[in-house]
Amino acid sequence: MSIQAEKIRVGVLTGGGDCPGLNAAIRAVSKSLMLNGDTEVIGIHQGFLGLIERRSQQLTYSDCSGILDKGGTILGTSNRANPFNYRGKDVSNEVMAYYQELGLDGLVVIGGDGSLSLGYEMSTLGMNIIGIPKTIDNDLLGTDRTFGFDTAISIVTDAIDRLRTTGQSHKRVMILETMGRYAGWIALHAGIAGGADVILLPEFPYQVDEVVDACHRRMSEQQFSLVVVAEGARELGRDLTVRETIEDSPDPNRLGGIGNVVKMQLESASDFEVRATILGHLQRGGSPTAFDRVFATNLGAYAASLVAKKCFGQAVVLRNNEVTHVPLESVAHKSKLVEPNTLELKTALSMGICFGTANINEPFSKP
Ligand code: F6P
Repeated sequence: MSIQAEKIRVGVLTGGGDCPGLNAAIRAVSKSLMLNGDTEVIGIHQGFLGLIERRSQQLTYSDCSGILDKGGTILGTSNRANPFNYRGKDVSNEVMAYYQELGLDGLVVIGGDGSLSLGYEMSTLGMNIIGIPKTIDNDLLGTDRTFGFDTAISIVTDAIDRLRTTGQSHKRVMILETMGRYAGWIALHAGIAGGADVILLPEFPYQVDEVVDACHRRMSEQQFSLVVVAEGARELGRDLTVRETIEDSPDPNRLGGIGNVVKMQLESASDFEVRATILGHLQRGGSPTAFDRVFATNLGAYAASLVAKKCFGQAVVLRNNEVTHVPLESVAHKSKLVEPNTLELKTALSMGICFGTANINEPFSKP
């Protein structure tokens, strides 16, 4: 960790959907900067909304203490404040002016793809940005993993375990819908961890008869069946199931409801008794796992070291178990999806888990 000599002033914001580990990251960035140099840390309220509405506060060391295990974010967040389209207007210049008035030397943006992309766009106007990726969805390109994901899959796995006992008792097909937007990482990992029979992912549109066949097989073997459906999953030839549309958000579509669609499809194609559960925001709430606390702390401390070196325009990432940095531009406006050669997908296929389609490449190649 380098010790900087001159006094600097750094902003921190959390943008996009909240996730467990945000407070651990805020704490790590702020405490590292305060402990290792003469730095003032300014917390921006509610992500980019705080820059638009000019809301911020200086953070003290004690503001950042006692928050490691807390869910949510002490700074607040917003996943619909876009400086380039705020209530139909481009207010990016006003946002830049506020950044300058605050006297910031740099801004640490802790966010998902929407916020990191906005951070990159603001960097082209002259803001000194360091990005820290977070999201329960684990869908950011350039990093092997995002914090928040481990906590989310633990919560989903616990839910699957609970659905199993009630599904077993009643001999039902139990469907669990997970979050994850356009990526199936949560459904895939939690589906494996929870022993799901069927996992439906956004990346591979499903066919109802494949799902029905898999449930029939499992019902005859074990008299119940567990189906995990990612919110972005869709039947082949059908559109996404959109819960609501929020026009000025960086991503206007809020997905949700496919679990009930699959329930109706199974009921009309079989005699199964089916129940669907949508886990929703429970996946984002509460205390982070130990893994996410350590991971977010690693990323936050590394971001502080980049600030101290004035190495801006970078995103802090995990690559091959090392924390490092890559140009922000290389992660902005991009996402990472499950692919046919994803390890967990191949593992699941080799374990006989059904993905609702025969159109996924062979699992592990035979020796
Ligand atoms: O990106 C995180 C996430 O929880 C997604 O998994 C989900 O689709 C979305 O945010 C929900 O957004 P909101 O909190 O606006 O309903």
